[in-house]
Amino acid sequence: MARKLLRFSMLMLLAYAGQVCAPPPLQAQQSGKAAGGAVEGKQIFITTCAACHGLDGGGGEHGPDISHRREVQRLSDKALLQIVQGGVPGTGMPAFGSLGADQVKAVIRYLRSLQGQASAAEVSGDPRHGQAIFFGKAGCSQCHMAGGEGGFIASDLSSYARTSSADDIRNAITDPNRNLNPRKRTVVVTTADGQTLTGIARNEDNFTLQLQTTDGTLHLLAKTELRSIEYQPRSLMPDDYASRLSRQELDDLVSYLVSIARGNGKPQAEPE
Ligand code: HEC
Ligand code: HEC
Repeated sequence: MARKLLRFSMLMLLAYAGQVCAPPPLQAQQSGKAAGGAVEGKQIFITTCAACHGLDGGGGEHGPDISHRREVQRLSDKALLQIVQGGVPGTGMPAFGSLGADQVKAVIRYLRSLQGQASAAEVSGDPRHGQAIFFGKAGCSQCHMAGGEGGFIASDLSSYARTSSADDIRNAITDPNRNLNPRKRTVVVTTADGQTLTGIARNEDNFTLQLQTTDGTLHLLAKTELRSIEYQPRSLMPDDYASRLSRQELDDLVSYLVSIARGNGKPQAEPE
């Protein structure tokens, strides 16, 4: 019971730390706009298209699937542009004359990225086998949550594949140090009594460090009482999966992540 409570309060702390550390979304939006980039396209899609076509373009009550269907994937950008600007007369697809050409292009680029994720399902993987690898052999679940189970030192991967292509997912698994977020780098401290702790800094100021170790425990440390703090330019995540797992096993993992992002945490039978 006491143990459960402790775990609960730790989770609360983590949720709190997450909020404090979250980057200001405004900045991302602005830079996205400046570049006419993916962020703007995503926003337009969410506010203008998702009500009918679904957040992932997979279709809804008022509009068909425009991300998985091959006919739509095969349409040229020009054809898509005409559909969005002119609508499809006599159907529920309205004309979006009020969107400027740049906005329409941005939303089409975003739609292409959704279609790219959709074709990630076409990796020759077996999502159920991927699930077994995730929770077994590869030990991903020691650190990551997926579909409501697993560890919580690293991010929850339940919806990760919704915004990443198959290649990005594969790279994230085989090359975890490539785009390492400095906040997620490995921190190794030595305490006054010579104990070494390895983990991720959850919160830090001039005097204190909250270090979360791989087992999930949060350590509240006073910096003056530490013998050393070392920030290592690498992720806690093992970087040898490319050699530990076969190509097929990596495909299985990717399919598993794609399938839970689409369903509700359970690996789904792939459509088509
Ligand atoms: C009010 C609901 C609604 C909204 C909002 C909407 N659509 Fe549609 N859309 C539809 C319907 C219904 C169809 C099917 C038209 C038909 O039957 O051919 C469609 C068709 C399409 C098609 C063609 C699919 C095909 O089979 O050829 C594309 C592409 C598309 N929409 C993109 C978009 C984009 C991008 C947006 C946002 C800018 C958007 N839609 C907003 C309802 C909507
Ligand atoms: C020892 C802990 C650990 C293990 C084991 C581990 N990871 Fe990670 N993983 C991390 C950390 C830490 C990060 C950095 C960012 C974060 O918190 O997600 C990360 C990042 C990721 C990311 C990128 C997430 C993002 O939001 O950018 C993916 C995808 C991922 N891991 C998948 C896996 C898979 C699949 C496995 C098993 C094959 C695995 N990881 C095993 C700790 C781990």
